[in-house]
Amino acid sequence: MTLPPHLVVFTGSGISAESGIKTFRASDGLWENHPVEDVATPEAWRRNPQGVLDFYNMRREQIRKAKPNAAHKALAALEQDGFRVSIITQNIDDLHERAGSRHVLHLHGEILKARSTVDARLRYPLVKGGIELGDVCDKGSQLRPDVVWFGEAVPLFEEACELASQADFFLVVGTSLTVMPAASLLSYIELDTHCALVDPDADAITPPGVLAVNTTAGEGVPALVNQWLKQGSLILP
Ligand code: APR
Repeated sequence: MTLPPHLVVFTGSGISAESGIKTFRASDGLWENHPVEDVATPEAWRRNPQGVLDFYNMRREQIRKAKPNAAHKALAALEQDGFRVSIITQNIDDLHERAGSRHVLHLHGEILKARSTVDARLRYPLVKGGIELGDVCDKGSQLRPDVVWFGEAVPLFEEACELASQADFFLVVGTSLTVMPAASLLSYIELDTHCALVDPDADAITPPGVLAVNTTAGEGVPALVNQWLKQGSLILP
């Protein structure tokens, strides 16, 4: 039995922009009003844990209110139609899952989970509310958001590289490809794997050999998916 073609999708904050979630590096992006060094590093946590928790509690509420958009839904529809779809996302939101995608690897963690500050294996879903100082894991240590901060290791990177190397088509959506090691994933795909990048800024950021699709995720992803569904394959004309 031959396996269906395998689409591996690598997403960044741009795929959730049309759901109302801010990207990071735009002039009005998240890091503009909340400097990385104040909210997203281990040093920030040591210096001002309350400030870090406030930032993620605020973001978590925004994410809970947001809804998957046409791009998240198109990827889920492709999977439901029998294609093999694996998503590697840098996003900490759950919009891929809420759209119906079943194979989502969160390279930078998940905002809807808390984890122990002493034992990273102790993770807890945050069904409602946020994390407060004094909220502790089963071993009695303070909880923190289950996200990867700048300066921390990316535990799922190897798994992501393995997936990238198995792609029949590698689709990049809505990322400026500036954060390592995530941005280096493209170098793990096979030389003959077809690859496209959907982003309104695609012409500026697309590496050589990759098809630049210069449009928003909400337009570009459903257009590609419809083409694949019509053809029954991941080949682009
Ligand atoms: N559709 C698709 N792409 C979009 C859209 C849209 N509607 N709107 C904006 N974009 C693109 C921008 O053109 C830009 O290339 O999304 C990209 C966002 O880039 P960044 O703000 O750098 O965000 P991202 O690449 O996701 O950042 C990676 O950096 O700060 C860390 O951990 C954080 O996971 C994040 C990582």
